Amino acid sequence: MSSKKKILVTGGCGYIGSHTVVELIHNNFEVIIIDDLSNSSIQTINNIEKITGIKPLFCECDLKNKKHLDNIIRYNKNIDATIHFAAYKAVGESVKKPLTYYQNNITSLLNLLEVQSNYNIDNFIFSSSATVYGHPKKLPITEKNKTQRPFSPYGNTKKIAEEILEDIANSEKNFSCISLRYFNPIGAHESSLIGELPNGIPNNLLPYITQTAIGLREKLSVFGNDYPTPDGTPIRDYIHVVDLVKAHVKALKRQLNNQQESNFEIFNLGTGNGYSVMDVIKTFEKVASRKLNYEIVDRRNGDVPELYANANLAKEKLCWKAEKNLEDMIRSSWEWEQKARK
Ligand code: UFG
Repeated sequence: MSSKKKILVTGGCGYIGSHTVVELIHNNFEVIIIDDLSNSSIQTINNIEKITGIKPLFCECDLKNKKHLDNIIRYNKNIDATIHFAAYKAVGESVKKPLTYYQNNITSLLNLLEVQSNYNIDNFIFSSSATVYGHPKKLPITEKNKTQRPFSPYGNTKKIAEEILEDIANSEKNFSCISLRYFNPIGAHESSLIGELPNGIPNNLLPYITQTAIGLREKLSVFGNDYPTPDGTPIRDYIHVVDLVKAHVKALKRQLNNQQESNFEIFNLGTGNGYSVMDVIKTFEKVASRKLNYEIVDRRNGDVPELYANANLAKEKLCWKAEKNLEDMIRSSWEWEQKARK
């Protein structure tokens, strides 16, 4: 009999999910991926195998289909924990299609929680976001900062999901949940076999920069340079996706070893360093040895001037710290973009 712990990863073909699967396999976990492939590719499974030498089990399933999900979990007995990534995540699209976002992100969560509870799977890691802090008054942001209603329906699904999870943790003492609040994940695996491949026009800064540099987009629009920051462009806490996913494995081990101090814990995942949009552009130009075509345009609705983490809690409780710097992050994004377009 295998002594490996079995982990269900929803959204395991996506950007953060796929890097997590690699890290889980490296740490000797058995992985089952559920993904509906709505914003990811089946080729990712082969690429995970190329990196790790192990092909994770893959089930194509939309989590809104509870019956299908039930069949998968019944068939794959003795799952020890779930890491839940599967969700729609485009901020702008969520403003235009709020119902689609609430339906998908909340229904999927509820189905997953119901089905896993029927099979006594008590451990849950949730992929949350710093967006739940809204427009924070105090920086750096600790987990004690009050949450606020996020600007976008996407962000609100993360906040609502955390509230649902906290309520369940309060009522079910066997249920253990860790919510990980990401700042701005960028970068790609060093193999350049997995990375971020957004559908259509990217919303986020890094994919927009790399797609502009490779010739897929004409120029980057910098959304405002009149913010109250040193160079006028907004500041964010960018974190390498590989650092980010290492924190997931640490959180999972904490959970499986019953080391949680309460059955609902929250950790910020960031580096604690803030960089402006212009810092990112300049670092990209240095790393890629080329000029980037960009122009300053009006502010984008909903952007806050500054957001960066205090990640001390994760350091103390998870023994985790982000190790890669901005150059490492941007270099790996650029290498991935070049390889992806070959
Ligand atoms: N930006 C540009 N031009 C672009 C894209 C972005 O100037 O084409 C700027 C934005 O104005 C912002 C910065 O780059 O100042 C970062 O923007 P991103 O869209 O990359 O990231 P956000 O900080 O807006 O959003 C991220 C995640 C969301 C999450 C949010 C939480 O992508 O999922 O953090 O704060 F909700």
